[in-house]
Amino acid sequence: MLRAFLILAIVFTYVAMVWGGLVRSSDSGLACPSWPLCYGSFEPPKDTAAKLEMGHRTVSSLAGIFTLLSFVYVWKKTRGLPKLTSTIALAFTFSAALTGMKMIKAETPHLKYLSHMLLESVHIYESMIILGFLILTYRLIYKRSMEEGVPLYAYIFALITMITGVLVRYTGSGEACGHEWPTCNGSLIPDFTSWKVTLQFLHRNLAYTTWLAFLLALVSSFNRTTLLSFVFVNLQFVFAISMVLTGFFLPLSFMDTAMGFFFFAWLTYNVQIKPTINLKVKEVW
Ligand code: HEM
Repeated sequence: MLRAFLILAIVFTYVAMVWGGLVRSSDSGLACPSWPLCYGSFEPPKDTAAKLEMGHRTVSSLAGIFTLLSFVYVWKKTRGLPKLTSTIALAFTFSAALTGMKMIKAETPHLKYLSHMLLESVHIYESMIILGFLILTYRLIYKRSMEEGVPLYAYIFALITMITGVLVRYTGSGEACGHEWPTCNGSLIPDFTSWKVTLQFLHRNLAYTTWLAFLLALVSSFNRTTLLSFVFVNLQFVFAISMVLTGFFLPLSFMDTAMGFFFFAWLTYNVQIKPTINLKVKEVW
């Protein structure tokens, strides 16, 4: 039961994050002006944007329910670190729900002010923390080996690239370099006249460093996990570059988000943790 609840919580959290990206890319963030129900009613809304927004709320609620159920089972059936990681996941579920409510009330999807941009980004970081800690909980209870996998340095580079990627998207800096790659506004090193250009340029360069980190990981320790991670980082490049070159074609924006958060989940499950302390936990029954 615990295993099923944890898997469902992870899957629904991931789907909610990708769905949220679709809501953002299709500008449907304010299609339901009230919260928690759309137009204050249980009746499904008629227009597509409102359906998308309501779908996101439904999937997020399911993610919350399964996170709560897995928290209850972790506290009943295990001891040690999983209790802490599942508590963190649950705490951030509550804060993400509150941030989501605040976002609708303050109409942050318009991204008019810096506070809007920050609140939108914080909401994504909260979701990443929930997903990350759910995966860590699963990993602590069920994964056998903690030693093999993605080196910590590659994980950290990828994480910083993702954190800046979220900022690029939720500050509306996606088009700051134009629809070009590898150039940015006509040159390899752009004029840093606007902070949006600087942010996008920073994100691109962090991505190149991340690519190098994964190449190094592959060369220094060739195994199935480092090989797949290198394939995934290349796929992320393909989706990101084609999204930019096509002027943010919706299916490619969707794939960029889906791949980005899948990559985060994969890395969190596979990041190498040195066995200096015994992290393995046994279920008590
Ligand atoms: C290691 C490779 C990369 C990773 C891990 C990564 C990660 C991310 C993530 C997590 C987001 C936010 C997605 C969302 O919230 O929906 C993002 C957005 C973005 N990334 Fe990357 N990225 C990478 C490479 C690149 C490259 C090479 C480019 C340049 C062509 C790029 C350009 C962008 C842009 C423009 C956005 C904003 C999209 C929008 O405004 O809709 N990324 N990235």
